[in-house]
Order: sequence, then C-alpha cells, then structure tokens
Amino acid sequence: MKKIIIINGPNLNMLGKREPEIYGYTTLEDIKNNCIEIAKENNISLDFYQSNHEGKIIEKIHEILGNIDAIIINAAAYTHTSIAIHDALKMHKCPVIEVHLSNPKEREKFRHFSYIEPLAKKIFSGYGEKSYYKALNYAISII
Ligand code: DQA
Repeated sequence: MKKIIIINGPNLNMLGKREPEIYGYTTLEDIKNNCIEIAKENNISLDFYQSNHEGKIIEKIHEILGNIDAIIINAAAYTHTSIAIHDALKMHKCPVIEVHLSNPKEREKFRHFSYIEPLAKKIFSGYGEKSYYKALNYAISII
C-alpha cells in the first residue's frame, strides 16, 4: 500500500477559529477526515500530522525518511522562515507538494517567499480547504 503524509505547521490546529475571513470555518479535524476518506477510496495509507513546533516537524520529516511515497506540506508561517524544514525535506527523494489555504503571494510581502517552493513538485494555494484535496488527489495520481 502506498503511503502519503500531510504535514501541517503552526496555528493550523486553530482553523475554524483563526481569521476565518482568510482561512474559512472548516476545522483541521474536518480537513483530516475528508483526506482520510479520499485516501481510503484510493487504497492509500495516510498520516495526517500537525505541530506548532519547528523541531517536531523536522523530527517527523526525519522519521519517515525512506518510508513514504509523497509528502504534502502546509508549513504555515515556517514556509517563509525555515531553512531547517527545507533542509529536512531535501533529504527525501519522493515528491513534495506544497499546500496553502490562502494564496500567500497575494498577501503581505513577508509571505511571498517560500523555502518549500524550490523543492515542491507542485503548489496548491488559494483554494481554501480544497487545496488539501487537490494536493492529495494530485499526489495519488503521481505515485
Ligand atoms: C498559510 C499561509 C501562511 O502565510 C500562514 O502563515 C499560515 C497559513 C495558508 O495555508 O494559507 O499560517 O500556510
């Protein structure tokens, strides 16, 4: 069975309550459940992970080395700051897919740069929760 992980960075556990005019009212738990459904329908083993801690995200990326077929990541604010997450992802040979609910390129200037982008096979941003489902369906289609 092919394995995919969806990794979520800081503050995404607050979806639904957090700036809903930007991120919507859907919770991360709802997104997780919908992703699990998509994975089940496609006979994919899915791990859905969230942490507010950069080091824990890095350790998760280390833990799955050589044992994952695609990585989908919404690194949230760490997208724009974390060379360490970039370096951890760079160890992987499997496709990395970047996801954002909003479109950071159309927001404040400090969100325009992404440390994930140079490693990403594809980016899905600006579709709200659907960014996750598009990314997951895309990952399934390429592995
Ligand atoms: C985000 C965009 C980031 O700029 C922001 O820091 C987030 C969420 C998104 O999904 O739109 O936390 O990654």
